[in-house]
Amino acid sequence: MMFFKNLLVSILTLSCVVKQLFVAAKLPQAEVDVLNQIVKTMGATNWTFDADTACELHEKSDVTELTRNISCILGPDNSTHHISVIEFKRCSLSGVLPPELNQLPNISKVNFAYNYLNGSIPVEWASMQLTFISLNGNRLSGNIPSHLGNIISLTYLSIQANQFSGTVPTQLGKLVNLETLRLSSNRLTGNLPTEFAELKNLTDFRINDNNFNGSIPEFIQNWKQLYRLEIQGSGLKGPIPSSVSLLKNLNQFKISDIDGTNQTFPDLSNSTLLRRLILRNCSISGRIPGYIWGMNNLRVLDLSFNKITGELPNVVPGNLKFIFLTGNLLSGNIPESILPEGSTVDLSYNNFTQPTLEHRACRKKEEFDLNLFRSSSVANNLSGVLPCKTDQTCHRSLRSFHINCGGNNVKENGTTFEGDGEENGGVATYYSNDRWGFSSTGDFADDNNELNKFYVASVKSSDISELFINARIAPLSLTYFGYCLQNGNYVVSLYFAEIQFTNDNTYRSLGRRMFDIYIQDKLVERDFDIEAKASGVLKPVTRKYNATVTDNILQIRFNWAGKGTTGLPERGVYGPLVSAISVVDPNYKPAKKKKIVEIIAGVGSCLIILALGIIGWRYYSRNVLKGSDLQTISFTLKQIKAATNDFDPANKVGEGGFGPVYKACQLQQKEKIMELVDPKLGSEYNKEEAERMIRISLLCTNASPSLRPTMSEAVSMLEGKTAIPDSIPEAGSYSQDLRFKAIRDFRGLNRSQTQHSTSAEDLLYN
Ligand SMILES: *[C@@H]1O[C@H](CO)[C@@H](O)[C@H](O)[C@H]1NC(C)=O
Ligand SMILES: *[C@@H]1O[C@H](CO)[C@@H](O)[C@H](O)[C@H]1NC(C)=O
Ligand SMILES: *[C@@H]1O[C@H](CO)[C@@H](O)[C@H](O)[C@H]1NC(C)=O
Ligand SMILES: *[C@@H]1O[C@H](CO)[C@@H](O)[C@H](O)[C@H]1NC(C)=O
Ligand SMILES: *[C@@H]1O[C@H](CO)[C@@H](O)[C@H](O)[C@H]1NC(C)=O
Ligand SMILES: *[C@@H]1O[C@H](CO)[C@@H](O)[C@H](O)[C@H]1NC(C)=O
Ligand SMILES: *[C@@H]1O[C@H](CO)[C@@H](O)[C@H](O)[C@H]1NC(C)=O
Ligand SMILES: *[C@@H]1O[C@H](CO)[C@@H](O)[C@H](O)[C@H]1NC(C)=O
Ligand SMILES: *[C@@H]1O[C@H](CO)[C@@H](O)[C@H](O)[C@H]1NC(C)=O
Ligand SMILES: *[C@@H]1O[C@H](CO)[C@@H](O)[C@H](O)[C@H]1NC(C)=O
Ligand SMILES: *[C@@H]1O[C@H](CO)[C@@H](O)[C@H](O)[C@H]1NC(C)=O
Ligand SMILES: *[C@@H]1O[C@H](CO)[C@@H](O)[C@H](O)[C@H]1NC(C)=O
Repeated sequence: MMFFKNLLVSILTLSCVVKQLFVAAKLPQAEVDVLNQIVKTMGATNWTFDADTACELHEKSDVTELTRNISCILGPDNSTHHISVIEFKRCSLSGVLPPELNQLPNISKVNFAYNYLNGSIPVEWASMQLTFISLNGNRLSGNIPSHLGNIISLTYLSIQANQFSGTVPTQLGKLVNLETLRLSSNRLTGNLPTEFAELKNLTDFRINDNNFNGSIPEFIQNWKQLYRLEIQGSGLKGPIPSSVSLLKNLNQFKISDIDGTNQTFPDLSNSTLLRRLILRNCSISGRIPGYIWGMNNLRVLDLSFNKITGELPNVVPGNLKFIFLTGNLLSGNIPESILPEGSTVDLSYNNFTQPTLEHRACRKKEEFDLNLFRSSSVANNLSGVLPCKTDQTCHRSLRSFHINCGGNNVKENGTTFEGDGEENGGVATYYSNDRWGFSSTGDFADDNNELNKFYVASVKSSDISELFINARIAPLSLTYFGYCLQNGNYVVSLYFAEIQFTNDNTYRSLGRRMFDIYIQDKLVERDFDIEAKASGVLKPVTRKYNATVTDNILQIRFNWAGKGTTGLPERGVYGPLVSAISVVDPNYKPAKKKKIVEIIAGVGSCLIILALGIIGWRYYSRNVLKGSDLQTISFTLKQIKAATNDFDPANKVGEGGFGPVYKACQLQQKEKIMELVDPKLGSEYNKEEAERMIRISLLCTNASPSLRPTMSEAVSMLEGKTAIPDSIPEAGSYSQDLRFKAIRDFRGLNRSQTQHSTSAEDLLYN
């Protein structure tokens, strides 16, 4: 697999530089000189061109997309060339825009996207007959110069992802031939000039990620040719003008994060060509109009974080691939028809009726991706975070959890951060283990990959601790939650490091990431910028917050509100990124070692629990665990408790339980302690639970009565409430006792603060 991937990359690399021969006419020496001056001004130190070959430069790397392309037109004498197109893209040139461009008589298109150019747009360009200017992804700053308004010939103007500030000059309204105007990801303020009403030929208008003021203007109804409209995180407020109903040619319609005004769904019934409809966080109330489900071209429907009510109709959505209804007030049953094969549906954060386990939504999900996290608001909050789980009750209390988001288990400062990197993530993903989990929503737009299910970012670097090498990313919303937590106050530490941008002088360093953070549904950070907070990329930054848990659940939600660049260093890089999470109860101290020594216990009662525990666990494992969701031993314990009348001493069953316990010790000697576990189970059992059981078994068989736990201690340990002590006698009279050897071996293992870290597997192989 890897070999073929490498081979493919090699082939692509070899074939990437495409050279096409053009007509053998010459470029006048004057234009050659100007060209050489231009590349020098732009900061290319070793590029030189000559009259014979300049017009033959047509390079494009399929891998890096680095492009150097010069096209020429033949002059009227049929023997000289004139430069008409210059494209230096993704070259990271670090100079300024060349004023000399105006000395090329027939230049019409310039594309200097993804360089490292600074300064502004030269006034010399104002007198030119340019039709196409793309300056995406540079460091251009200051006001957008008003002299751009003189280049009436322009049909395409894109200055996205720069540092332009101030208001948009009204003069741009004179560019009546404009078809494409992209101003996204700058620092523009004020209102859009009313002169823009005259830009009637616009097909593509994007102003995402700015600081504009005012409402979305009514005059966009003039832009009848509009094919793509993007107003995400622009600063503009709602409502969406009702006149958008006149825009019949819309293919992509993306509006998000417009504050405030309550509104109903805009009438888009005549926009039948819609392919991507995003109306996210637009304060839309009321119902989803029925015609939406009949739009045959619709591929992406994102209506997340509104106040939409009503039920979903029982119709099969034609061509819809992605449906995001996250964060609304939708109710009623989830119609099975909304889950056709191949669909991706996110219904998290809603008010639906909980589906039964037999419902298609709860059955095996190979055919579709579905996220039901908190999709129903019911009395029991636990059922909200554990949708489609048979057991939605807590059997024990947790005081802390530590997650290495998107990575492997990592031990730092004595704490093991559990990795969730094996769960890649994806468009509508829900994951949970028996203590915590995550919900991930969104498709990375414009990454040209509808099948992207790898929502983990990684960096190869030795300059940063392992916790930050991998991080979980999400395009829209990412929630980490812990459940079955003891109610009380917690300290939430969030660990970040920017690992997707570089720290060199290339366009790859120019990305800006911003997202919001909510803890327990309360906004704690708006426009959080990791790189700014850490003063650089590849630098860790930790944020600590106090949080109160009242219903055993803690939730940390990361939200993209349309801010930051979306195409640097590659298309589709944006949104939340988190490296690690730690949640601890600052007042909780794990049980001390000496406590156990003080306890005098009868070996008999301890053994009853043990015997019942192991027998019960084996029975339970065999009959219940197989083929169903993994559950904890505590369930069995509950059964045992009930069966023994909560461990009434009258129910003593004698010494019969000693057998299996002693067998443990024998097996341990042969380093096969896990043989205690029924082999029929395969790997489908909870190794932590098994290990805990065995460890308590060994403790209970302690030859020294003073070291045996009491009944209640043992129960508490089984439930995971109390740490299982390491304290056992060193060498001495008992040193030959296999039972102590086994416990000592456990103690020898490197263990973390939590009770869950040493797996039985470690025991076997250490
Ligand atoms: C310019 O020089 C650099 C370093 O010397 C080299 O990597 C690069 O390929 C050169 N570029 C061209 C166009 O020759
Ligand atoms: C070079 O530019 C011309 C004119 O814009 C275009 O037709 C051609 O495809 C480009 N070639 C490359 C390799 O980008
Ligand atoms: C240039 O070529 C075109 C078409 O081949 C021809 O019509 C025209 O007369 C030529 N002009 C000159 C100056 O030779
Ligand atoms: C190229 O520029 C010359 C000089 O400005 C002009 O006369 C000619 O029409 C231009 N040719 C084209 C095809 O634009
Ligand atoms: C552009 O950046 C260089 C350093 O890379 C700096 O010396 C120069 O002053 C900047 N020019 C402008 C116009 O900002
Ligand atoms: C707009 O587009 C039409 C059709 O492509 C074209 O005829 C017209 O010249 C363009 N410019 C203006 C200002 O209408
Ligand atoms: C934003 O617009 C409002 C009303 O249109 C105005 O009162 C306010 O001064 C504007 N703020 C800025 C920063 O332009
Ligand atoms: C929004 O509008 C709907 C319908 O007009 C209304 O029922 C709802 O109460 C409004 N919500 C707010 C927050 O104003
Ligand atoms: C949709 O188009 C039809 C036919 O042109 C027209 O009668 C209707 O009013 C339009 N609806 C909207 C909301 O503009
Ligand atoms: C949720 O749905 C139920 C009916 O299923 C309804 O009674 C309740 O008011 C809804 N809650 C909200 C917040 O809309
Ligand atoms: C580990 O300790 C070091 C030194 O005190 C500290 O800088 C770092 O942030 C700690 N790591 C974690 C994950 O808390
Ligand atoms: C968190 O709570 C502790 C104890 O109440 C307090 O000392 C600390 O300042 C709080 N931290 C924050 C960030 O609020």
